[in-house]
Amino acid sequence: MWKLQENILEGKDKQHLVEFIKTTDRFTQFSKVKAFEKDWSEWQNCNFSTFVNSGSSADLIMLDAVKEFYNLEDGAEVLVPAVTWTTNITSVIQAKLTPVFVDINLVDYSFDYEMLEKSITSKTKIILITHLIGLPANIDVIKKIAEKYSLLILEDCCESHGATFKNKKVGNFGIASTFSFYWGHHLTTVEGGMICTENEDLNDLFILKRSHGLARELDSSKHQKYKDKYPHLDFNFLFLTHGYNFRNTELHAVLGIEQLKHLERYIQIRNRNHKRYLEIINPIKEKLYKVDSDGISSFCLPFIFKNKVDKEKLHKALKDDIESRPIVSGNLLLQPCFMQFGDFKDFKTAQIVHENGFYIGNNQFVNDERLELLSEIIKTTF
Ligand SMILES: Cc1ncc(COP(=O)(O)O)c(C=O)c1O
Repeated sequence: MWKLQENILEGKDKQHLVEFIKTTDRFTQFSKVKAFEKDWSEWQNCNFSTFVNSGSSADLIMLDAVKEFYNLEDGAEVLVPAVTWTTNITSVIQAKLTPVFVDINLVDYSFDYEMLEKSITSKTKIILITHLIGLPANIDVIKKIAEKYSLLILEDCCESHGATFKNKKVGNFGIASTFSFYWGHHLTTVEGGMICTENEDLNDLFILKRSHGLARELDSSKHQKYKDKYPHLDFNFLFLTHGYNFRNTELHAVLGIEQLKHLERYIQIRNRNHKRYLEIINPIKEKLYKVDSDGISSFCLPFIFKNKVDKEKLHKALKDDIESRPIVSGNLLLQPCFMQFGDFKDFKTAQIVHENGFYIGNNQFVNDERLELLSEIIKTTF
C-alpha cells in the first residue's frame, strides 16, 4: 500500500538520535535547539528562526505576537483562504482577531485575488497567506494589494518548504512566516514548527511567548535592561508578556539538524516525482485542473477534477493500492467550527476543490515502481 504518510526518517537520523541520547543529560530546549534555529535561518535565508513544538503553535505565536507588536485591536480582520489547514484559522480566532474568508483560485491555489481586494474593510490589518501544497502564492499581486491598503503580510509555509517565487524562498515576503515539521512534511522532526522573521524585536516576542513570557529566555545581552527595570522581581521569574509553553526539545532539534542536511535532496526527489506525475496524467489532462508552478516544492500529488464523476472513478480505483485524502481540509466553510464565518456556497472554487479533489502522498521514498502503478491504474480507469 502506498500510504499518505510513512516513515521518512532515515537510518542515520535514528543513529544520530541514539548517539545524542547516549552522550547528553540535557533534553529540554538548549544548544541543539539553538543550533537547529541557526541552520534553519541559513537555509531559509532569514535573520531569525524560533523552533516550537508544531506548525500550529508557530501560527498561534505568530498571530498573537504580531497583534501585540503592532497594537492591533481585538476583532481586527485577517484575510484568510477558504482552503488551508484549520489551525491556521483557529490561531487567528485564539489571538482575538477575526478571520475573513476569501475564496481560492485554480492557478496557484492561493487567494482569489479579486475577492481578496474586495474583502478589505476599514478593520482589515493582515493578509495571512497559505502557500498551499508546495505552490507559491502570487506575491506580486498580494504585495500590491497590501501596500495599497497598508496591510501586514504573514506567510504560512507549513506545506511549502523551499518553494520559490521569482527565485526567492517563500517565507521571506512578509513580516513573519511559519513552517511545520510534522511527519510527512518536507523535513520532519516528528512534531515541530518554526517561526521566521527579519525583525529582532518581533522575534524576541516569539521567544518570550514560546516559553511562558519569561524574560530569561531572551539573549543574555538583553537581561540587564530588564533587571534594572524590575529590580523588585526575581529575574528568573520575570514574565514580560502573556505566553504559552510551545517549546520543543533537544531530541527533536537533533532530528531537524540531520534532516536539514538532506532537505535539498528530498525536495529534488519530490519535484522529480511531481514531473513524472504530470506525464502520467497527461492523457487525462483535459479532465483535470492543472497543479504546477515554476517554484513548486511538491508536497503531495493532487487530483482536482473538473467533474465529480471522474473524481469518484479514480478515487475508487486507487482505493486498495494508494491511500488518498481531501485537499488539505477542503472548503473550510463546511466545517462546524467555521460555519459562522460564511456560507460555503459563496466559496465556489474551494467547493470545486472540496468536491472534486483529493491527493496522494509524495515524499523521498516514492519511487518509479509506485509511479508506474499509478500510471497503470489511471490507464485502466479512463
Ligand atoms: C498550511 C498548514 N498550516 C499549519 C499546519 C499545522 O502544522 P502542525 O501539524 O505541525 O501543527 C499545517 C499542517 O499540516 C498546514 O498544512
